[in-house]
Amino acid sequence: MSLKEQLIPKRLPGHIAIIMDGNGRWAKEKGHDRLYGHFNGVESVRNIVEGCAELGIKYLTLYAFSTENWDRPKDEVAGLMELLIQTIKKEIPTLNKNNIRLHVIGNISLLPPNAKKEMEEACNETAKNTGLNLVMALSYSSRWEILNAVNSLLSARKNNQNNNPVTEEEFKNYLCTKDFPDPELMIRTSGEYRISNFLLYQLAYAELFFTDTLWPDFRKENLYEALLDYQSRERRFGKTSEQL
Ligand code: IPE
Ligand code: IPE
Ligand code: MG
Repeated sequence: MSLKEQLIPKRLPGHIAIIMDGNGRWAKEKGHDRLYGHFNGVESVRNIVEGCAELGIKYLTLYAFSTENWDRPKDEVAGLMELLIQTIKKEIPTLNKNNIRLHVIGNISLLPPNAKKEMEEACNETAKNTGLNLVMALSYSSRWEILNAVNSLLSARKNNQNNNPVTEEEFKNYLCTKDFPDPELMIRTSGEYRISNFLLYQLAYAELFFTDTLWPDFRKENLYEALLDYQSRERRFGKTSEQL
């Protein structure tokens, strides 16, 4: 039986989040510059988006560029922005054909104006699609998101004189992810065992899967492997095994 056939459809996660890491090392191994790795990483994005859509996954969040990544060498940042613009432009028809809706989370006011415009247009042009929700985390970091949420909440409360304790339900409305359920599964490639400022609040009870595979080598089969591992776990949410 293939890995895909071994998956139990009813026990698939509704939301998968991925830290796509290892592009630079992949390129270096092959004697190329880092941008070559990013360029090849796009094929993995296509393949995994397709894989998730085929499985009927409702949400896929991809960490594409972090707040901290702005500190990389200027030419790498510029190359990544260019790649982003080109890819988004090219992929809109495919997204529409496959009923995929694009969303962006992050501080996109920091993006170059043309990149920001392309992203917003792509989100608008796919807004009617009802299949997979593809969430790109761009210029994103969790601490930025949480502080942004606290500040927005404070200013909203100032206006309506509300002094009640903040509930989880109220707080969630100020996060970039307010319209999405929390991820049940988080995958990180490239053998790094850290979260790197990604969805710190939302990953509270996610199952974590780490693989040595570098992002440009990551394909549907690797996704199925992560999903099978996920399906073998017992999610207890603080309870005992017997209570489930
Ligand atoms: C992930 O690959 C892509 C981004 C962070 C934009 P890296 O560029 O971090 O690749 P490594 O980790 O240096 O190999
Ligand atoms: C995390 O990868 C961010 C993205 C994948 C976009 P990094 O390669 O930037 O993470 P660190 O800095 O090594 O933790
Ligand atoms: Mg990295």
